[in-house]
Amino acid sequence: MNPVEIKPGVYWVGAVDWNLHDFHGYSKASRGTTYNAYLVIDEKVTLFDTVDAKFTSELLCQLAQIIDPGKIDQIVVNHCEPDHSGCLAEIVERIHPEVIYVSKMGQQFLSGRFHDHNWPLHVVKNKETISLGKRSVQFLETRMLHWPDSMVSYIPEEKLLISQDAFGQNIASSQRFDDWIEWPELKSLMAHYYANIILPFSAQVPKAVQTIQELGWEIDMIAPDHGLVLKNNVANTLAAYQEFAAQKPTPKAVIVYDTMWKSTATMADSLASGLSAEGIEVKLFAIKSWHHSDVMGEVWDAGAVLVGSPTHNNGVLPLVADVLTYMQGLKPQNKLGFAFGSYGWSGEAPKKISQWLDDMDMEQPEAPAGIKHVPTHDQAKELFATGQRLARQIKDRMAVS
Ligand code: FEO
Repeated sequence: MNPVEIKPGVYWVGAVDWNLHDFHGYSKASRGTTYNAYLVIDEKVTLFDTVDAKFTSELLCQLAQIIDPGKIDQIVVNHCEPDHSGCLAEIVERIHPEVIYVSKMGQQFLSGRFHDHNWPLHVVKNKETISLGKRSVQFLETRMLHWPDSMVSYIPEEKLLISQDAFGQNIASSQRFDDWIEWPELKSLMAHYYANIILPFSAQVPKAVQTIQELGWEIDMIAPDHGLVLKNNVANTLAAYQEFAAQKPTPKAVIVYDTMWKSTATMADSLASGLSAEGIEVKLFAIKSWHHSDVMGEVWDAGAVLVGSPTHNNGVLPLVADVLTYMQGLKPQNKLGFAFGSYGWSGEAPKKISQWLDDMDMEQPEAPAGIKHVPTHDQAKELFATGQRLARQIKDRMAVS
């Protein structure tokens, strides 16, 4: 793709990864992604972030279409994860920057990743401001959003926030801005990204938004390191992040299960029917057909999470262990939980799932349900009723939250 001038003298110089579906080895990116970097032409020509190493040539080509890369004076490293710094060593070698701005933790990360580099680092203080000439840049540390090194860069003269991973979305597109996509679709992409990358650090989000408000930053454009540059949806995006972080329960239940001979699937269907009969939206995941990150894309705002597995070798089926392990690491909040599963003889799976849900602080108003062999009609009816009771519990919790 060609560079795009997103503000006068400010260019997107990133790369579009159309064919990436495995994002960082743990999250699915079914629509690809982008690695966004930004070049500001000022008295000090400054490059904000770089790209994944496999796109080094593309970045250099982008830069060369705007300016001789050797004339770039400085680099800002907002975040050291390899999708934004993988090509840093080669870029530094090519352009010989006078200075590389990085956070204190970023300095440690660069040292750990690039070892004996002898780069001209300037470790910025939190809220430090530097001058580029006509413009200035204020840095704000956003530790654990989503790495310890993370910081954002604000250019007040442009009302531009370069936000690294925050507010990103995994979408490959020939469009650079958010002016072609409807907000619900964009929000859904943002939520999927948030739920799989940022969710465990949700407590940091309102603090960061509050600090931005206290600093009086006026923002009319957010330039994240993935996906579309936000100019039409700045207010929507800031509000959405507050919503994602709050994880208030909504009238939605996620049912995720695996099955061997369809008994646990039958249980899942009966529960879904009971929930649905009470007006709760149900998202049903037979986990063999889904990726764990898709499940999390629905869990973040669900009122309840129901997990089922038949008992296999005294435990749960492997894909159920996978999705529970992944879910637990992302620390979802404010959920009801329910464990269920069929068995042939020993029947440990529901209790093991229940322990997992307990470890995630999910309230479990209903005892784990195990059904031997194949559910009878009466047992299916009881599961339907369990779904109805869970639905009422979801609504009760929504009323007080
Ligand atoms: Fe897009 Fe945390 O890297």
